[in-house]
Amino acid sequence: MSRQQGPLDLDELAGGVAVVTGAGNNGIGWGIALKAVELGMRVALIDLHQHLVDDAVSRLRERFPGAECVAIEADVTEPESLARSLEIIDATWGRPEIGAVFANAGVIFNRTVLKSSLDEWRTTLGVNVIGVVNTIHAFVPRLREQARQSIICNTASVGGLVRGDGGGAAYQASKHAVVALTESLSFELAANAPQVRVHVLCPCIVQTALGATSRANRSVRDGTARADQLVAQDFGPEGLAMRPERHAQQVFDQIAAGKAYVITDNVRPYVDHDFPFDALAIIKERVENLLDQQIDNADALRGDAARPSAILKGPMFQEMGRRAATDAKS
Ligand SMILES: NC(=O)c1ccc[n+]([C@@H]2O[C@H](COP(=O)([O-])OP(=O)(O)OC[C@H]3O[C@@H](n4cnc5c(N)ncnc54)[C@H](O)[C@@H]3O)[C@@H](O)[C@H]2O)c1
Repeated sequence: MSRQQGPLDLDELAGGVAVVTGAGNNGIGWGIALKAVELGMRVALIDLHQHLVDDAVSRLRERFPGAECVAIEADVTEPESLARSLEIIDATWGRPEIGAVFANAGVIFNRTVLKSSLDEWRTTLGVNVIGVVNTIHAFVPRLREQARQSIICNTASVGGLVRGDGGGAAYQASKHAVVALTESLSFELAANAPQVRVHVLCPCIVQTALGATSRANRSVRDGTARADQLVAQDFGPEGLAMRPERHAQQVFDQIAAGKAYVITDNVRPYVDHDFPFDALAIIKERVENLLDQQIDNADALRGDAARPSAILKGPMFQEMGRRAATDAKS
């Protein structure tokens, strides 16, 4: 077996720049930025609105006062915007070495194939797929030029590894595309740039405001809200989901372990409960269906679930259902 990456000593990342798109909120990108600072990296936080990335940097510096960060406003759907981001990074730190790129910006509009509007399809594929491609085009040539080991990590989702069902159809299609394009990139770099470690991040459930930020950014685009009125969305009260910070710990633990598919399940020590998402079991169902050349829709026909799903059905969602039923009774 020829792997793109074996185990990595995370100390090797110190001093390099971590570029993180979609880092302006309190979500996965912000958690990764925080962890990168903790690892001694300089961090370029990229998101749609300057005041939000500025605030994100301030929140990082509350935790790590000496953090070397730059806040960059850029739209990942626009290649020029990302090319400009690299120029800003070079101007800030004098053509520094880039240690890691996290192509993480994303949107979700949680609707079925038939109910998703064409605009939702286009926006979802535009940000989640073309945004990742643009980020790769902007930064991977630099990673290839460098002799040092570096990371390109594209955020897909566990939704990119399991079958589609009644949930976010456009979202899942986009995340399958991110998995496939990351596999292509890995193949492409295997022979001529083995120092670039290629990962696809497939989170299970992280406590973020992804749906709310997606709607808010769409309102700004449509002119029904003002960008300067947006504030970073909070991730709400502690539930069964992972906190972004603890999620980021799992991301770097799996990168250190050399996992190409960084599948971050809701498991200890990253959560304080024993109700996992159970990603590998649900992925296995898809693989078995594929090998059998069949789709098993039994979950769609179950009458006992409020929201039948072939994906959101493991111990974590069973427990959520139990808690909701208990709350409804009391
Ligand atoms: N939260 C989860 O449970 C979960 C699970 C699997 C995958 N993901 C993925 O994780 C990534 C981060 O999402 P999150 O959950 O942290 O939510 P989030 O809302 O905190 O992060 C998404 C960020 O992307 C930014 N963004 C959107 N469009 C952009 C554009 N065109 N250019 C630049 N930035 C843009 C948003 O402003 C936002 O800050 C997404 O790709 C999402 O699909 C999240």
